[in-house]
Amino acid sequence: MNNSTRDAIYTLGRTQHETTRLIEQSKIYGGSTKRLLEAAGIANGMKVLEIGSGAGDVALTVAKLVGEKGRVVGVDVNPTILGTARKRAKAAGITNVEFIAGDARTLNLSNDFDVLTGRFVLMYMANPGDALKHLVTHLRPDGIVAFQEPEYTIYPALAHPDTPLMNQLIAWIVEVFKASRAHLDTGIGLYRAFVEAGLPEPTMHLESPVGAAETWAGYRYMATIFESLLPLLEKYGLATAPQVGVETLAERIRREVLIAKRPFFLPPHTSAYTRRTN
Ligand SMILES: C[S@@+](CC[C@H](N)C(=O)[O-])C[C@H]1O[C@@H](n2cnc3c(N)ncnc32)[C@H](O)[C@@H]1O
Repeated sequence: MNNSTRDAIYTLGRTQHETTRLIEQSKIYGGSTKRLLEAAGIANGMKVLEIGSGAGDVALTVAKLVGEKGRVVGVDVNPTILGTARKRAKAAGITNVEFIAGDARTLNLSNDFDVLTGRFVLMYMANPGDALKHLVTHLRPDGIVAFQEPEYTIYPALAHPDTPLMNQLIAWIVEVFKASRAHLDTGIGLYRAFVEAGLPEPTMHLESPVGAAETWAGYRYMATIFESLLPLLEKYGLATAPQVGVETLAERIRREVLIAKRPFFLPPHTSAYTRRTN
């Protein structure tokens, strides 16, 4: 990971569409997040700090895992999206979670958390290792650290000559995240970030949602990603709205999968967890 002096622009924008996209994203990535949280050892009664909460999906999953005796504090720099997270918690009858607006790196938080976690958030921070080093100070001495971050550097390797649409979409995704200064390698870079933060070497997994069934939700989800990315794709001169064709994108991907007989890959991500020992 090449650290920077400036945070990334939030590549996917701050629209209501983006909030909806995050909720859709969680339906696809939620299974792998739950596996990470359980493998990391998150259990009944724990107090959890979850950073970059967005619409609240990770915090709500954690809230169920820690139960009524546990507590979750979710933090996001975007106060508007936390309104949605709070409403969703209330609608689900979840009372052991609170959401605080602010930059996770500078908020005044207590130092008695059992767990520090986050999904797809360190990639936007100028220096994820430094951020993690500070964030772990909120943990008890044997606290758990568990993160999931995307790994865009290997995404182009999943493309194939007979899937031109998938290849183009992957190229646009990589270019727009790079142009907005997001880290492309935070997934695999979690190893370095954990070690630089003084943590023991993490257990890690790399995976990607893959689908080829006609009814797979991933085609539609890819179109929602592009609806969020379009303003920056256009701003950076990488693609125009007619070139992307969001309205027909899901159907065109589905057709390419059928013709090429190759499954479609959504962005790969890495899960990493460890336990603080000092
Ligand atoms: C891609 S979204 C992921 C949301 C959620 N973790 C999920 O997986 O559904 C990243 C979120 O991190 C938040 N974020 C980025 N930098 C942050 C920071 N320094 N402190 C707190 N939140 C931050 C953004 O506002 C955004 O809501």
